Amino acid sequence: MKIEGRTFIVSGGASGLGRATTLDLYAKGASIAILDLNSDLASQVIASTSADRVRFFQTDVTNSEQVAANVKLAAEWSAETKNPLGGIVAAAGIGNPALTYGRQGPVDLDGFKFVIDINLIGTVDVVRNGLEYLTKVQPEGEDGERGVIIMVASAAAYEGQSGQLAYAASKGGVVSMTLPMARDLSKYGIRVVTLAPSMFDSPMTEKMPPKVKESLTRSMEFPKRPGKPHEFSQVAIACIESTMINGEVIRLDGASRMPARL
Ligand SMILES: NC(=O)c1ccc[n+]([C@@H]2O[C@H](COP(=O)([O-])OP(=O)(O)OC[C@H]3O[C@@H](n4cnc5c(N)ncnc54)[C@H](O)[C@@H]3O)[C@@H](O)[C@H]2O)c1
Repeated sequence: MKIEGRTFIVSGGASGLGRATTLDLYAKGASIAILDLNSDLASQVIASTSADRVRFFQTDVTNSEQVAANVKLAAEWSAETKNPLGGIVAAAGIGNPALTYGRQGPVDLDGFKFVIDINLIGTVDVVRNGLEYLTKVQPEGEDGERGVIIMVASAAAYEGQSGQLAYAASKGGVVSMTLPMARDLSKYGIRVVTLAPSMFDSPMTEKMPPKVKESLTRSMEFPKRPGKPHEFSQVAIACIESTMINGEVIRLDGASRMPARL
């Protein structure tokens, strides 16, 4: 699908992997509606682009009314500017490690739900609200394609480390939604792809203790380093552009398999 002249909704688009995707979509001539909590980081993205083609809608993806209202505003902006919606990149996410059973006793259920609410339910909510509009854009090309959904899982969906109970559950949910969602949306000419990175440089991994980062880097085969945000967005862009990629989860991990403990 051609990216130029289309509008993409990017949740978590103010930072890290979402931000790199925003900037690369922008460089390809797209308009981007960033849905994110963090207005400071979003302002930096706006400052380095153009307000004509990048807008920020402050959104907490766990607040369903806010998600619906801001996705609607983004869709109205795309209609006004005649840059039809072309897809949704659901990249908002958090870590929040906790042991299943530790010194404090069993895992705190509110903490567990917090991660699921953002990473899994927040992803579904942004996507389902966006579909209200994406299913109605004019199909294009010989295949009648309308758009692409990119979701973000993690290598932790497959090899969740000790302490990643909630995170692994949330990302496993995203992995498992990929095929049924692609099947559901095929009749609308909408594809679904999930990217599952291992360790990438971003504000999220900056907070990790050096010991943890070193252990994860050691688990990389090649290249032996964390991924760079642009290496994530390169694949996101390829998935949007290449019509045969659908219903698939792609690991971006330098052939690493994460160790049990960090
Ligand atoms: N960086 C990695 O190593 C890595 C590895 C695997 C998966 N991931 C996944 O990639 C995605 C992006 O992560 P990142 O590394 O860029 O992290 P990041 O912290 O740099 O970016 C996450 C963004 O999500 C936003 N966000 C958090 N909670 C939100 C909420 N409730 N509502 C709206 N926005 C919210 C933050 O404000 C931030 O802009 C996440 O889903 C993360 O789980 C990252």
